Amino acid sequence: MTKTNQWSVLIIDDEADIREVTSLTLLDAGYTVETAANGAEGLDLCEQFKPKIVITDVRMPVMDGIQVLETIKKRFPDTEVIVATAYGEMDIAIRALQLDASDFITKPMHTEALIVALERAKHRSLTRQQLKDYTRQLEQGLSRTTKQLEETVAYQKRLIESSMDGILGCDINDKVVTFNKSMEKMLGLDRSEVLHQAALSTFFSDEEYFRLREALAASSHGGKGILMLYETFFLDRGKQPVPVQLSAALLMDEKKPAGLVCFVRDLRRIHRLEQEMANQAELLHQDKMMSLGRLAASVAHEINNPLAGILNYIRLMLRTVNKGPLPQNKHDQFAQYLTTVEAETDRCSKIVSNLLTFSRRTRVSMEPVCISEILDRSILLAGHKLELGNIKLTTSIPNQLPCVVGDGNQLQQCLLNLIFNSVDAMPNGGNLTITATSKDNLETVIVQVSDTGHGINEEALSHIFEPFYTTKQEGHGIGLGLSTTYGIIEHHGGTLTARSLPGESTTFEIRLPVRKATP
Ligand SMILES: Nc1ncnc2c1ncn2[C@@H]1O[C@H](COP(=O)(O)OP(=O)(O)OP(=O)(O)O)[C@@H](O)[C@H]1O
Ligand SMILES: [Mg+2]
Repeated sequence: MTKTNQWSVLIIDDEADIREVTSLTLLDAGYTVETAANGAEGLDLCEQFKPKIVITDVRMPVMDGIQVLETIKKRFPDTEVIVATAYGEMDIAIRALQLDASDFITKPMHTEALIVALERAKHRSLTRQQLKDYTRQLEQGLSRTTKQLEETVAYQKRLIESSMDGILGCDINDKVVTFNKSMEKMLGLDRSEVLHQAALSTFFSDEEYFRLREALAASSHGGKGILMLYETFFLDRGKQPVPVQLSAALLMDEKKPAGLVCFVRDLRRIHRLEQEMANQAELLHQDKMMSLGRLAASVAHEINNPLAGILNYIRLMLRTVNKGPLPQNKHDQFAQYLTTVEAETDRCSKIVSNLLTFSRRTRVSMEPVCISEILDRSILLAGHKLELGNIKLTTSIPNQLPCVVGDGNQLQQCLLNLIFNSVDAMPNGGNLTITATSKDNLETVIVQVSDTGHGINEEALSHIFEPFYTTKQEGHGIGLGLSTTYGIIEHHGGTLTARSLPGESTTFEIRLPVRKATP
C-alpha cells in the first residue's frame, strides 16, 4: 500500500451522513479529507485545496456527478475522480469511465471497495506523474540535442561560408548541393541559380571534365577518388576559363558513393603576380644590361685615350729604334716618353682597380677598425695638399669612438676621396672641417667632411655618385672617387650622403654601423 498521509481526498455528496461516514473512514486510513455538499462547492474546493483524488456522488441536485467529473477533468486534468453510482446504474458508470474517471464504486459504499478504489486512483495518479516527468525529461533532452544539432549545423555553415577557398559539393547525381560565397565570387554566379539545378559538368569544358573524371578514377593525384592540388579550369558565368587549383574527394556513405566535395583555389591572382614578377625580372635584367653597356662604353672611353697615347709613344720609339742604334740625344726624349707611358698606364690601372672596387669584386679584409686612427692617417696624408691649397683644417675626433668592422685601407681611400674633392672645390683656399661622433647608443659612427667650397647644385647632386660623373677638367678627375666611396661604404653596411649650399658649402656624411668583430 502506498503511504496515504500526503494524499488529499475531496468527497462531494449532497447527503451529510455519507460525507461524514466516508470522511471518517478515510481519515482512519490516513488520508487528508475535505468535503463538499454540491458540485459548485466541490469545484471551489478543488481550486483552493487541489485534492489529488475526488470522490463524487452521481445523483446530486443542480450539477450531477458526471458534470462535476467533466469539469474537473477539463480544469484539473491530473486529479483522479472516483464516481459513486447507485447499484444498477451501469450505463452511468460506463459513461464516467469514458470521461476518464479512474474508477466507479457503487453505493452504499463498502469500506474495502472504497480503499481498493482509492489505491487504484493513487496508482493511476502516480503513473500519470511518472509519465509526465519522463515526458518532460525526454522533451528537455530532445530540445538540448536539437539545440546542439542546430549549433553544429550553424557552425559548419559558417565554416563553409567563411572559407577563403571555394567549396562546391555535389550529390550522387552530380547536382550541386553546396556552393559557398567564395565560389559565387570566383565564378560570378549566385547560388540560387546553381543549387540543386546545375550539374558539376556545367562548370567545365567537355575536355576538362573528362580529364577531371579520369584523374579522380586514377590514383595519380593522391589516391583513387581523391584529387590533391589538381590544376584545371572552371568556367565562369560568361563561360570564360578561370584557372584553379582543386582538391576534391568522393564522399562515401557506408561504403557507397554519396557525392563529391571540391575545395577550389582561384589561381588568377597568383598567376598575375607570377607574371608581374617575370616582367619585373625581365625589366631588371634589361636595366642591368643597359647600365653594364653604359659602364662598358665609359670604361672604353676612359681607357681608350691613355691607350692611344701609350700606343703612339711606343710606335714612335719603335720606329726610332728600328732605324739603328739609339743616338744619345734621343735618350732624354725616350725617358720623357716612357715617363708619360708610365703615367698613362698607371691611370689605366687605377681606372680598372677603382672599377673593381666599385663592383666589389676585390677581396677585402674585414677586421675591427678604429675610425679615429684612419682619420688621423688620412689627414696626415692630405696635410701637404691642404697646406699648398691654403686650406684651414678644423677637426673634432674623440679618441673613444667605438671600432667598426671593415677594411682599413678601403675606408682610408674613402676619406681621402672626400678630402681631395673638398680641396678641389676650394681652389682659392677655405675651411675644411672633419668631425666624428657616435650615435644610437654607440651603435653608429658618423664622420662628416665639410668644406666652404663652390658647392654642388641640385642637378649635379643627383649624379655625383654615378661612375665617371665629373665636372672637373680633363686630366683633373675621372669621376670615380664618389662612386667608389659609395660602393665601399655600402659594402660596410653604412650610408654615404651629401648636402650642399651651392656657392657656400658642402658636407658629406658617412654613417657606419658598429658591429662586433667576428673571428
Ligand atoms: N666637396 C665637393 N664640393 C663640390 N663638388 C663636389 C665635391 N665633391 C664632389 N663634388 C662633385 O662631384 C663630382 C664627382 O666626384 P668624384 O669624386 O666622384 O669624381 P671626381 O672628383 O670628379 O674625379 P675622381 O675620380 O678623381 O675622384 C665632382 O666632379 C664634383 O663635381
Ligand atoms: Mg674625386
